[in-house]
Amino acid sequence: MGMLELRSIDKVYRSRGRPAVHAVRSLDMAVEKGEIVALLGSSGCGKTSTLRMIAGFESVTAGSIALRGRRIDELPPARRKVAMAFEGYSLYPPLTVRENIAFALKSQQLSRSEVSRRVEAIARLVEIDDILESYPRVISGGQQQRVSLARALVRDADLYLLDEPMGQLEPQLRAVLRGRIKSLLAEREMTAIFVTHDQTEASALADRIVVMEDGVLQQFASEKELKERPANLFVASFIGEPPMNLLEMEVKQAGSGFRLSAGPDVAFDISGDGLDQAARGVLAAVPRVQVGIRPQRIGVGEGAVRVRIGSNQWLGDQSHIAGECAGYLLIAVIPNRIAARPGDVVQFAIAPRHLNIFGPDGVCIRHAEVS
Ligand SMILES: Nc1ncnc2c1ncn2[C@@H]1O[C@H](COP(=O)(O)OP(=O)(O)O)[C@@H](O)[C@H]1O
Ligand SMILES: [Mg+2]
Repeated sequence: MGMLELRSIDKVYRSRGRPAVHAVRSLDMAVEKGEIVALLGSSGCGKTSTLRMIAGFESVTAGSIALRGRRIDELPPARRKVAMAFEGYSLYPPLTVRENIAFALKSQQLSRSEVSRRVEAIARLVEIDDILESYPRVISGGQQQRVSLARALVRDADLYLLDEPMGQLEPQLRAVLRGRIKSLLAEREMTAIFVTHDQTEASALADRIVVMEDGVLQQFASEKELKERPANLFVASFIGEPPMNLLEMEVKQAGSGFRLSAGPDVAFDISGDGLDQAARGVLAAVPRVQVGIRPQRIGVGEGAVRVRIGSNQWLGDQSHIAGECAGYLLIAVIPNRIAARPGDVVQFAIAPRHLNIFGPDGVCIRHAEVS
């Protein structure tokens, strides 16, 4: 049994005179004790709604939530043992920073010296120990955000929910805090879910990542697995920088395997051996499929795919080379520089084993080999 289990959670916002918003759809998710999970997705995909339902600030429209095996979705927020740092901070204006953080410890009946010790320790960790006696209105947005974060992390809770906890901070401070927060969570075996729309942050901090889109969980997996085994077209194109190249290809049976092609220059033979039965069934039944190739898997210089160069950029440690081929823009990423200029024709090498193949519903029916 997981630490936290969401079963078939739905959230529909209804307000009079406005169309209903179905913000979260049939969400299933189990988080283990001590795990750090990132909710990753674009704005409006339902991340905040999900956290607020777990914390109890929004009701669930359908489904159930259990924490440590105990059903919590009917309980008021204060009885859930869930600590949350809000997107909008929600600090108490009449209280100082110190009092705001200490307020979160009120229900824990600690001695005054213990409260001070804890408040000061967490304040040092997020670098706000120099503003403990200030009021929220006189400190910056980035400082307010860290007060909100400290107020959540200072508590003893079964679960920590952090909504875009570092969005207002400069990259450098963000990277430092990320490291410290990760150590703190690991040291105390805290279970946490944080929201971000930054892939780097999700990868750096989380053990596993939930990719959400349009209220629907697309995939819940480690960063490595999201990259190497994307469940569907959405995840494949969302994760990775630059994004996976996608081409529509015609499918023809060829012996015991299949030939995929997007024009005469771009054709690949896929052996039937590497396909499971479902994939073979799909390929035998459909005229076309979407095919994805990671930019890092394309070789440049020799190969069967002729490409007209659109741009060739050296980024200091890698080249991004974009070229047109069969009506598609393909991007290759290679570790070295080449002399090609826009308009030149160069050859790209794409190995059939590096193709991800997606069925008509967008589900990945064959993943690329890893090496
Ligand atoms: N209180 C609310 N009333 C009506 N619609 C809401 C409310 N809160 C959020 N929404 C809508 O629900 C969807 C998901 O919002 P949200 O969970 O805040 O997404 P995210 O945090 O991923 O940006 C959006 O379309 C948003 O406009
Ligand atoms: Mg949000």
